[in-house]
Amino acid sequence: MSIRILGIESSCDETAAAVVADGREILSSVVASQIDIHRKYGGVVPELASREHLRQIVPVVREALAQAGLSFNDLDAIGVTEGPGLVGSLLVGIAYGKTLASALSKPLVPVNHLEGHVHAVFLEAHKSGKAPELPAICLIVSGGHTIIYEVKARDASAGNCAALFAYRKLGQTRDDAAGEAYDKVAKLLGLGYPGGPILDRLAAAAGNAPSPMQFGHIKIRGNPHDFSFSGIKTAVLYHLREHPEYAPEIRAREEAIERGERKLEQLLPLCSPATLRLVREFQNAVVRDLVERTMSAADELSAASVIVSGGVAANSQLRATFVQRAAEEGLTAYFPSRPLSTDNAAMIAAAAYPRFRAGLLADHSLNASASLPLA
Ligand code: KG4
Ligand code: ZN
Repeated sequence: MSIRILGIESSCDETAAAVVADGREILSSVVASQIDIHRKYGGVVPELASREHLRQIVPVVREALAQAGLSFNDLDAIGVTEGPGLVGSLLVGIAYGKTLASALSKPLVPVNHLEGHVHAVFLEAHKSGKAPELPAICLIVSGGHTIIYEVKARDASAGNCAALFAYRKLGQTRDDAAGEAYDKVAKLLGLGYPGGPILDRLAAAAGNAPSPMQFGHIKIRGNPHDFSFSGIKTAVLYHLREHPEYAPEIRAREEAIERGERKLEQLLPLCSPATLRLVREFQNAVVRDLVERTMSAADELSAASVIVSGGVAANSQLRATFVQRAAEEGLTAYFPSRPLSTDNAAMIAAAAYPRFRAGLLADHSLNASASLPLA
C-alpha cells in the first residue's frame, strides 16, 4: 500500500492542495492563484491574501481529493507549509491542516516551503526516471527568495524520494530576490504583475541590436555566493527617468493592462525596439549572475549535479543557460516542470513524505514561522 499525503500550501498568494503517493506520484494538484486580486496593486497585499486563502482553502482541498478519487479517510498524513512566508497566509493553511489532522486523527507533518521547492525537482526527475545525484548545488529563486544551498542525503540508503536531505546555505540575496527584480522592472515599464513571464517573452522578441543601456557584472564584496539585484532595478529606474521618450509607451501599456490586455501579442506592439532591448539586457544580466554564482559554488564544492527551483526557474533563458553551462562542466542541471516551479502543494506533500517516515511530526502547538530557515 502506498503512503498518501495531502499537501497544503498557503505561504504567499497561491492556495494549493495536492495528494502525492510515496513522495513521488502526483495523484492530484490544485492551485488557486490570487494573481487577479493582487495585480491591480502591483504586488501581493498580505491582508487580501489571507482573506482569499480563507475563501479558497476548503474548495481547493475538496477538489484535490476529488481529482485523486480519494476521501479524507484514505489519507495517511497531512503535510502543511509551516514557513517561510506571509504569517497571515501561512496561518490559514496551518489552522486548517491542524483541524483536519485532529478531526481525522491523522499525523500532521510540518514542511519548510523552501524544502518543498527542492522536492519539486525530485518529483519531476522521478517522472523521467532520473534523480539528481547528491551532493547537489541548489538555487532557489523566486519572488521572495534567491538562495544557494548545498544539498546532501542524510541517509544515503533511503533512496531519493524517501531520503531526508541535509542543507547548508552558501549564499543569498542581500536585497531584492531575482523574481522581485523582475516584478519591479515590469512595473516600471508598465508591464503589469507578475513581471517574470512577460519579460521572459519580450526578451526573446528583442533581436540582437545593441541595447540602450548596459549592465555591468554585479559586484559583491565578501561572500561570492551572495546576490544583489536592487542595483539593476535602480539602473533601469534612472535610465527611464533620464529618457522621457519612454513615458508615452509606458502609459499605453499601463492602459492596455487596465483593459485586461496582458498577452504577449497585445503588449509586444506597444513596446519600442529600445524597450525590448532594455528588457533583453536586464534578463541577460540577471540570468548571467544567477548562473555564474551557482556554477561557481558547484565547482567549489565539486557538486554532482545542479538543481534550480522556484518561480524564476520557469524562465526559458535561465533554463537554457543552466543546461548549457552545467554540460560544459560535465554536470546535469535539473528543474521542475513549469507548473511545479511556481508555488504548489505537490511539492509540499512530496517533502512531507520522508519527514512522515522519520516521524518528524507536529502537534496542535504548530505555529506559522514567517522566516523559517532551511539551514
Ligand atoms: O515561487 P513563486 O511562485 O512564489 C514565490 O515564492 O515568490 O515565484 C513567483 C515569482 C514572481 O516574482 C514571478 O515574476 C517570477 O516568479 N516568475 C518568473 C517567470 N515566471 C514566474 N521570472 C522570470 N521568468 C519567468 N518565466
Ligand atoms: Zn515559493
